[in-house]
Amino acid sequence: MDDAVENLASDLLDRRTTTHLTCLILGGPDTGKTTLITALAQTLARQTRVAVIDADIGQSHIGPPTTVGWAMADPNVGDLTRLPVRGLGFVGGLSPPGRLLPLMVTLNQAALEARDAAPIVLVDTGGYIQGPAARALWWNTQRMLNPGVVLAVQKETELAPVLSGLDPSSAVYRLQAAAACRTRSRQMRRQFRRQRLLAYFRHRQTCEVGVEDIAIQVVRPTERSPVPPEPGTALGLIDGDGRDLGIGVALPGSERRIRFLAPPLPSGHIHGVILSDARLGQALGLSIPSPEQEPHA
Ligand SMILES: Nc1ncnc2c1ncn2[C@@H]1O[C@H](COP(=O)(O)OP(=O)(O)O)[C@@H](O)[C@H]1O
Ligand SMILES: [Mg+2]
Repeated sequence: MDDAVENLASDLLDRRTTTHLTCLILGGPDTGKTTLITALAQTLARQTRVAVIDADIGQSHIGPPTTVGWAMADPNVGDLTRLPVRGLGFVGGLSPPGRLLPLMVTLNQAALEARDAAPIVLVDTGGYIQGPAARALWWNTQRMLNPGVVLAVQKETELAPVLSGLDPSSAVYRLQAAAACRTRSRQMRRQFRRQRLLAYFRHRQTCEVGVEDIAIQVVRPTERSPVPPEPGTALGLIDGDGRDLGIGVALPGSERRIRFLAPPLPSGHIHGVILSDARLGQALGLSIPSPEQEPHA
């Protein structure tokens, strides 16, 4: 693996144009994508500035679950969860179906910021590759990000339908998933997510905003009134410039006031709240039912 990573890293350096190189990794769950991106980031960071975007919203390594986050790679840090988060965008779910629009918008925003910060940008993704919506997601993502390189990691030929629709502007590297990759159970995924949430909300505090004082957006509109949000659901917190301040988790509130838990937020007034249906309450120890039944998460 070490030689393979070194070779790939030197290929990416060669392919970097005068401006930058974006490298997008695609593959099913548990094919070693994050392991490879981590090793590549660490190797490349010895030679140049490298940013990593984590677009896996279920098994998030950079930023909390439900978000796309990005960070600068560090040659001395071999674990993406330990890199300081430079930016995050709220997607409002633990898997892409039903959230392709916020996923693409937050990914685009992360790419704009990451490209300003580094000549090489590596984009890690979740394992959502099956079906027409997944094809639409990655085909449009290729058009949006224009990656010089796509790393396609497969156990067999499961990525063929996605790859067949990519345009020829990206060099596609087909890689065999390492036989040693461990398939993680639903329980292991949930446990990792819980750890990541607890880390993000370690210094949580209770906050409250008046419904009339803020703009409210809903990720997936439903029949019922969105306010107050269901206790335990994830909220995106937006400042007056439309930037994501962070995420919160709803507490029981009223029709006039939204109450939630949030970590200490960067300075900036909460101007907008995005209401989602992603349930995070149980992971934080709130006694609220948390049926996490989404596939691909
Ligand atoms: N080359 C490898 N050799 C041995 N184990 C690996 C290798 N790549 C990944 N793994 C293990 O397989 C599991 C899944 O890898 P991960 O990189 O998280 O996959 P993905 O990001 O595609 O879901 C992890 O437990 C990881 O440590
Ligand atoms: Mg991964």
